[in-house]
Amino acid sequence: MEYIFFEGEFVPEEKAKISIKTNSFHYGTAVFEGIRAYWNGKEGQLYILFAREHYERLISNSRALFMEIKYSADDLVDITVNLLRKCEIREDVYIRPIVYFKDLALTPKLLGYTPEVAIYTYKFGRYLDTSKGIRVKISSWRRNDDNSIPSRWKVAGAYVNSALAKTEALMSGYDEAIMLNKDGFVAEGSGENIFIVKNGKVITPGPSDHILEGITRTAVKNLIKNELMMEVEERSIMRSELYSADEVFLTGTAAEITPVVEIDNRKIGKGEIGDTTKELQRIYFNAVRGNMEKYKHWLTPVYEN
Ligand SMILES: Cc1ncc(COP(=O)(O)O)c(C=O)c1O
Repeated sequence: MEYIFFEGEFVPEEKAKISIKTNSFHYGTAVFEGIRAYWNGKEGQLYILFAREHYERLISNSRALFMEIKYSADDLVDITVNLLRKCEIREDVYIRPIVYFKDLALTPKLLGYTPEVAIYTYKFGRYLDTSKGIRVKISSWRRNDDNSIPSRWKVAGAYVNSALAKTEALMSGYDEAIMLNKDGFVAEGSGENIFIVKNGKVITPGPSDHILEGITRTAVKNLIKNELMMEVEERSIMRSELYSADEVFLTGTAAEITPVVEIDNRKIGKGEIGDTTKELQRIYFNAVRGNMEKYKHWLTPVYEN
């Protein structure tokens, strides 16, 4: 049976309904997260990836919108473990927590309203093609600026920007979009951070390039340094640098580590997955499924085996 954590209780899906008048539905003033849980068949265990980190970001982003929720990050991790157990999930899933103002009110503001929390899960495989790599397009849409809607917050309304870029890319026959920021430097994908490899060095845009500081981005930076013994430089990247990179890849909870093999009809490197990307994928996919003791601290086990 499908349960949803909704306004303080676990309820069957058909009971988790909000009114058409809900304030956050009209103004996009909701904050959300995307979390993955991976099923390890050999151990009979479901592992939630970076549960605490995602809930800490959710709480921090909610506070920025004056949404004080009554749960701590630890409470939300516990609720999620209980939800997954209650739904008896034994496969890879995506977990979507969302904080929204439940008030039936029409003023676009952040004060005087009541924030509520809902968490649901759905079956989720690959988001993008991690095995063959993807073709991307530099979007004509610029990434949200920090002084309009900060990209560092996972705020529902900000995802109109992502939806415009992703749609343009799909309608033009590409798999994903890369957005530049207002200064014309590379920011990120519609739901992914970006890395390039050039002459043995890995480069990724920093927070002042108007990006979401992805949790996967941080984990991958650490893998690059600690497992591949390569340097990671955080700096602004020019559009033309993408075209001449040896390798380009995207990171994100949904996208995991997705190789980019073509940008604006130009082959990246040899037009196939590069060695650095391949090695990172190998380590990451093992770590997230609980196959590497060293990275078990990334994971929260759901079942008491
Ligand atoms: C715009 C954007 N950038 C980057 C990411 C990657 O972030 P994370 O690795 O925390 O999932 C996401 C996905 O959440 C996103 O929506």
